[in-house]
Amino acid sequence: MTISENVVIAPYTTFKIGGPARFFCIVTNDDELVEAVTFAKEKAVRFIVLGGGSNVLFSDDGFNGLIIKNEMMGKTFTDDGTLYSVVDANAGEDWDEFVALTVEKDLFGIENLSSIPGKVGAAPVQNIGAYGAEVGKVVASVRVLDTETMKFVELSFVDCKFSYRDSIFKHEKGRYIVTKVRFRLCKQGEVNIGYKDLAHFFADRKIAKPSLKEVRNAIIEIRKNKLPDWKVWGTAGSFFKNPIVTAEVFAELQKKYPELPGYPESDGRIKVSLGWILDKVCDAKGLTLGNVSTYEKQALVLVAKPGATATEVINFSNELMKRVREKTGLIIEGEVEWAVV
Ligand code: EPU
Repeated sequence: MTISENVVIAPYTTFKIGGPARFFCIVTNDDELVEAVTFAKEKAVRFIVLGGGSNVLFSDDGFNGLIIKNEMMGKTFTDDGTLYSVVDANAGEDWDEFVALTVEKDLFGIENLSSIPGKVGAAPVQNIGAYGAEVGKVVASVRVLDTETMKFVELSFVDCKFSYRDSIFKHEKGRYIVTKVRFRLCKQGEVNIGYKDLAHFFADRKIAKPSLKEVRNAIIEIRKNKLPDWKVWGTAGSFFKNPIVTAEVFAELQKKYPELPGYPESDGRIKVSLGWILDKVCDAKGLTLGNVSTYEKQALVLVAKPGATATEVINFSNELMKRVREKTGLIIEGEVEWAVV
């Protein structure tokens, strides 16, 4: 394994932003991963693991540590004779190629997460979710390198503490590096087409019971029409999380904005659609400052033109946060990870 110096990070991220990393390496197996982390410890620098770079914003000054690009490949499907199949995928596998394979094999559980950029290893970290599905619901366990003990351990579903765009991996930052994810996918499940956009898609086409493949294709099409192509734009998808508020706060907001969409969480709180607020309340859909805009079809998504800097993106996001706070009193949080220098 080679550890390079002064490697520009921008091409490794979908925002296409970020200055040089002091050190950079690609790991393809456990031994290389241990070697990389040991190197960072010996040099007394921080390390960040990068998968597809699709949910991160690096500083223009780069990163004064080691970037470890995880390219551990491999996946296995095991039919254990029950209603479920156990599927293992290594962290460096492409997420959407993996989803496509599960659909081909008629396994239910992640079809609604089609077309999300990134790698398998990142999926449990931010508990990726879309169209009424969350990956945490079908994760059986996650194999990690515990960088405190330098041992490989298996974290159970419960250990992972999944919630909306959240998991243990975000709280114990940098401690665990995901090497493999074990999924439990159903062989005779049911498709979940309750989410508004999906329900409309099939109602328009008069399809009552779509197949797995039809659901995947529908999601690919819906996303293509609503979200920017990250191969063209600099983007990391939704830039902020949808805020979760108490029923009282939601009722107050609804008095002012009766059409504000809200979705109940299991604890009784309500997840509020920030895209709607940015669009309908803050008049920020398509707003542009310099090289950065909210996407013309989805205000929660930021897009950056070639040449945009991280500083521009951060200034722009600060402006959006200010507008939301002034209009609604809500303090919003980033969904994208901001890597510190
Ligand atoms: N809306 C507007 N205007 C906008 C954007 C949204 O009125 O500019 C309204 C929509 O009409 C809808 C509601 O707000 O009534 C919610 O919008 P949408 O269904 O597009 O979903 P979202 O909450 O904005 C979340 C995820 C997306 C995921 C979609 C679909 C987060 C932070 N984002 O967006 O994930 O694709 O749901 O399930 O939870 C990502 O994480 O990068 C991402 C794209």
